[in-house]
Amino acid sequence: MSAEQTLADFGVVGLGTMGSNVALNVADNGFEVACWNRDPEVQRAFLSANAGARVVGVPSLRELPARLSRPRRILLMVTAGKPVDLVMADLAALLELGDIVIDGGNSRFEDTRRREAEWRAKGLHFVGMGVSGGAEGARHGPSLMPGGSAEAYAALAPILEKIAARSDSGPCVTHVGPDGAGHFVKTVHNGIEYADMQLLAETYDLLRRGFGLGAPRQAELFARWNEGPLESFLVEVTARVLAVRDTATEDPLVERIVDSAGQKGTGRWTVMAALERGIAVPSMSAAVDARVLSSEKPERVVASRILDGPRRDPLPADDATLQFVHDALLAARVLAFAQGFRLIRLVSDELEWGIRGGEVARIWKAGCILRARLLDRILGAFEEAPDTRNFALVAPFPGDLARLVPALRRALALAQTCGVPTPVFAASLAWYDSIRSARLPQNLTQAQRDAFGAHGFERIDQLGVEVHADWSL
Ligand code: 6PG
Repeated sequence: MSAEQTLADFGVVGLGTMGSNVALNVADNGFEVACWNRDPEVQRAFLSANAGARVVGVPSLRELPARLSRPRRILLMVTAGKPVDLVMADLAALLELGDIVIDGGNSRFEDTRRREAEWRAKGLHFVGMGVSGGAEGARHGPSLMPGGSAEAYAALAPILEKIAARSDSGPCVTHVGPDGAGHFVKTVHNGIEYADMQLLAETYDLLRRGFGLGAPRQAELFARWNEGPLESFLVEVTARVLAVRDTATEDPLVERIVDSAGQKGTGRWTVMAALERGIAVPSMSAAVDARVLSSEKPERVVASRILDGPRRDPLPADDATLQFVHDALLAARVLAFAQGFRLIRLVSDELEWGIRGGEVARIWKAGCILRARLLDRILGAFEEAPDTRNFALVAPFPGDLARLVPALRRALALAQTCGVPTPVFAASLAWYDSIRSARLPQNLTQAQRDAFGAHGFERIDQLGVEVHADWSL
């Protein structure tokens, strides 16, 4: 066997859950993988647990490039932030022109832009790649969102297209766009994930507090909903977790969990990227705020003893009422996704990334946390109008929303009457009502700004001209 034949096709640095699962996925697809982990014990355990797989370990990072065919393709699955820069600094000295390093972590897209530019200047390729689908996805087929040069993508495509999840629209991977485009799209994926998860939490709360439905009955309801237009990974997971009982108490396990949500940051980054650019993503902002408020548990417990709210007996949960909650959830989900796709489009325009909304919908159809039947309709809308900023304006969505939004109004009215907080339902409806209002009340805002700060305003009969008024009576 020549030395060339012993070279591995793919390198993986970082053998935590995600790294080891991606390495095994690549190996299962017929590629030889060379891997390395900073803690040698982790690497030893991984290699001995997977003795039959096409994975080999290297004793140090320095030795990894020499074990790989060229151009080298090395995936980093290390903690986002400084660890990525440290490994990149070590690798940069060892790599040669045209070699490719992929960062598969949840990195900030601004960091990816900087890293990609620095490496481009050295003649190296850096690909920031969103990987979605958790441990299971990484092992058996994630949705992959790589950004970087077209040349790097061409060299990676034979591997990425094999390891990615597949839907009836092909492998869930595409060349998202240059530099930070892939990580940006993953960030927005997570922003929408926050909104969709919060909508499900609000639905659970409304069903529980508004209709007195316990977790076991809700589990059946969500499982039924998952057979219709709401079908999605997140509804499936909701049905599953609501059905599990605590072994110690026999209570639904979900009721034994402290109501304080964690967050690693991607939802907040989505909102920050939008706010910095003056792009409104109210459903995602409300979802981030909801997690923050949930984590302020001690303050809430104190306030719950001081502040009053409505006290009502639960309403009867007949099929018709449950149907409007279903329709409300679907309407709000459409509106949250529409904000996310619009954000992707506007940032892509600003940074000249050329991201195609239809491709994003296509690669989210399987493998990722957002996979949902709704994405077929979104993909259809983008096929109809590839350049739309807002798929909610493209068929079939105006008709869908005309049918579903009345249920959203009803669900919100009910939640408000019961005093159940539903911030993402409310923000989604407010976004809908705002974007469909040709006239909003910010004429008053402008008048106030001019009255107290002489900030000027435009008259409707004199567009483009800044004027002031004398507001004294
Ligand atoms: C995915 C998920 C994954 C993870 C987030 C959750 O696409 O596979 O989005 O990235 O679930 O890290 O983040 P939070 O801890 O912020 O909820």
